[in-house]
Amino acid sequence: MKRRSLLIGGAGVTIAAAGSTLLWRPDDQGAPHNPYFSQLNEMLKRDGPGRPVMLIDIDRVNDNIDVINSSVGPDKTYRVVVKSLPSVPLLQHVMARARTDALMVFHQPFLNAVAHAFPQSDVLIGKPMPVSAAATFYRTFYLERDSSFDAANQVQWLIDTPQRLAQYLALARQLGVKMRINLEIDVGLHRGGFPESQAITPILKTILGSPDHLEFSGFMGYEPQLTGLQAGLDHPAVQQVLGIYKGFIDVAKSSGVNISNLTLNGAGSHTLGIYNHDEVMNDLAAGSGVVKPTDFDTYHLTDNLPALFIATPILKRYDGLRIPGDPMLAKLLPLWDPNMQRLYYIYGGYWKAKMVSPAGVADPIYESTNQSPITTSAKVDLQVDDYMFLRPTQSEHVMLQFGDLLPFKGNHLIERWPVFHQTG
Ligand SMILES: Cc1ncc(COP(=O)(O)O)c(C=O)c1O
Repeated sequence: MKRRSLLIGGAGVTIAAAGSTLLWRPDDQGAPHNPYFSQLNEMLKRDGPGRPVMLIDIDRVNDNIDVINSSVGPDKTYRVVVKSLPSVPLLQHVMARARTDALMVFHQPFLNAVAHAFPQSDVLIGKPMPVSAAATFYRTFYLERDSSFDAANQVQWLIDTPQRLAQYLALARQLGVKMRINLEIDVGLHRGGFPESQAITPILKTILGSPDHLEFSGFMGYEPQLTGLQAGLDHPAVQQVLGIYKGFIDVAKSSGVNISNLTLNGAGSHTLGIYNHDEVMNDLAAGSGVVKPTDFDTYHLTDNLPALFIATPILKRYDGLRIPGDPMLAKLLPLWDPNMQRLYYIYGGYWKAKMVSPAGVADPIYESTNQSPITTSAKVDLQVDDYMFLRPTQSEHVMLQFGDLLPFKGNHLIERWPVFHQTG
């Protein structure tokens, strides 16, 4: 309630100023659903469950996978980022079309689910996990014993410090297992990892000195700091990243490591397009670019298409603004901002998402996870039970908020795809 009165009060101040100059008056941005969203609206009114849902456009997903795959090229591995596509059938679809078994996993329950669902996969852990998460993975995995997944050869644990390596070595000894170890390296993001190449000399010594329990499997150097640069391979900032990366490879070579079988991972959806002709890294990660939420409307993803939408039914429609407090304000606001002429309430709201259709909705008067007010111009003429469509700003986490995903082709829902459980 506090936020509501603040926002309404704020709008009142703005309108008073606008009344004197009219310079600030917003344009009418309203537009009805285009044919793409009209068709989805009809599909959901016919076949939808009558609540907020997460839709996936399979034709667009297929195009996006093909774009990513051709950026990666035939000589490198495309590694699918599981947190950004957190559903077994969705991952199955992406892996089959991209012809890859390589996954990057960031969450212990997802790792157990992946080991169960993809017994052939090669999993690189994407962030250094507490050793107790690794212990939980093994405990659950051995309890279930329902997969031919071979953890000793198919998981690469990510290690960022000597202390964590010591913890993992102790766990490997305790369990009597062998672990593959990939080293997180800092190539300029400064989010952690080994800060400079010489720091890994004692680490490699420990790994190579414990052949019964540890095996060195490569490096992971993530560099999203390059996102805003519209950079190609020759850009100095890219060359700097690759120079740092090469320095680590050189130290591995001089420590006696056979580098030909290493996983040299880097990139993400934002930057993967840079490395088509690069020969330093051989393993490129991407997840979000497959569905392209709004945070991924970035330079190297211009050929990818938005393929992920929250669709939610309209619960109420009013042909004038209604707000608590002074009724005068409800009359004045639509005069000032034509995008406040009509008021709808949608089912749910306050997601990490932006309205994509109808176009031209005004900034929300307030937001609610139960029913959110959406104001539009009179050009938007939707009815109760019609749907509105939002694009998530990110796929990670948001895709887990709606139950089964609803993939569609054309104007047909094709099946329901369960998402991962957050715990387990
Ligand atoms: C280590 C690492 N690699 C790659 C990615 C890229 O994931 P996405 O393609 O979904 O942005 C991420 C994202 O957080 C990451 O942390």
